[in-house]
Amino acid sequence: MVRVIGFLIGLGFALILLLAFISNLASYFTNPPTPLAAEEFHKAPKELHLASDGPFGHFDKQQLQRGFQIYSEVCSACHSMKLVSFRGLKDLAYNDAEIKKIASDWKTQVPSINPDTGEEATRKPLPSDTFPPPFPNEVAARAANNNALPPDLSLITKAREGGAAYVYSILTGFQNQPPELLKKFPDAKTPPNLHYNPYFANLNIGMPPPLTTEGQVTYAPGNPKPTVDQMARDVAAFLVWTAQPDLESRHAAGIAVVVFLLFATILAYLAKQQIWDEVHRGVRPTGPLDPENQAKTRKAKAKAGVVG
Ligand code: HEC
Repeated sequence: MVRVIGFLIGLGFALILLLAFISNLASYFTNPPTPLAAEEFHKAPKELHLASDGPFGHFDKQQLQRGFQIYSEVCSACHSMKLVSFRGLKDLAYNDAEIKKIASDWKTQVPSINPDTGEEATRKPLPSDTFPPPFPNEVAARAANNNALPPDLSLITKAREGGAAYVYSILTGFQNQPPELLKKFPDAKTPPNLHYNPYFANLNIGMPPPLTTEGQVTYAPGNPKPTVDQMARDVAAFLVWTAQPDLESRHAAGIAVVVFLLFATILAYLAKQQIWDEVHRGVRPTGPLDPENQAKTRKAKAKAGVVG
């Protein structure tokens, strides 16, 4: 009896679930969710190939230097890079004297104390300092950017899906709103102070296009032409380095581990072969399964006239 009641209660629950499922499914089709402009017009990042891609990737130091130049001449007006220090630039093949000069020429100073008076002061950055932020805090940063906050760029290629390709796409993705978008979504006009960019999640970004003209920065001789595309590639490559400065040594360690594991696997296989080879040769059926004993048994049975 208890079992029957339990079964009926279970059945009741299952029926209610089924009814809820059917009614939801019906309302999905009779009253479909309204599409959003951001869902239809958002684009996945463009393809970007960098020297640092893949397990054998390494940094193209010249490209990183160009990327750093873009950061320091353009992006650093708005974006901080708090986790990177001047002396870290040694990885980009700058020498100590160059790094000292880059630090002391930096446009923002760092807070300090006047040693004579004990009063607050500022001083020029040293190679051991991290890059001083362009704004003292978030409030000031928002105040200068129509209330949008320029994120710190140290880890941006790790913090966004698509990484360097995303940064490159954002930088080269500014354009006019496509007419189809406005036809389909008349309310989705880009608000003032925002800029249409289909690679940004909600299509309208608070950053004005930072790279607009060829030759906006001057590259040293021997480098490619500073087109908008090239500058965007270079700064994206630089931001891969800021996010993972140890990428090359990690790649090297990974390759060494794979080679070692391969070698250890071969050794383990050979050792197994050797151990089991002896065992295989040594094993012989004994007792009632020994063919010799079985022959003896058969003979004895035949002699005694036992069948089977
Ligand atoms: C005039 C100030 C300004 C300059 C110069 C500038 N940015 Fe921005 N940037 C912003 C602001 C403001 C935002 C935040 C936008 C938002 O949240 O809508 C932003 C956002 C970004 C984002 C993040 C998008 C996201 O997913 O959150 C990236 C990446 C970026 N900037 C890269 C750069 C690079 C690289 C440069 C240099 C080539 C640069 N920016 C120069 C103001 C600036």
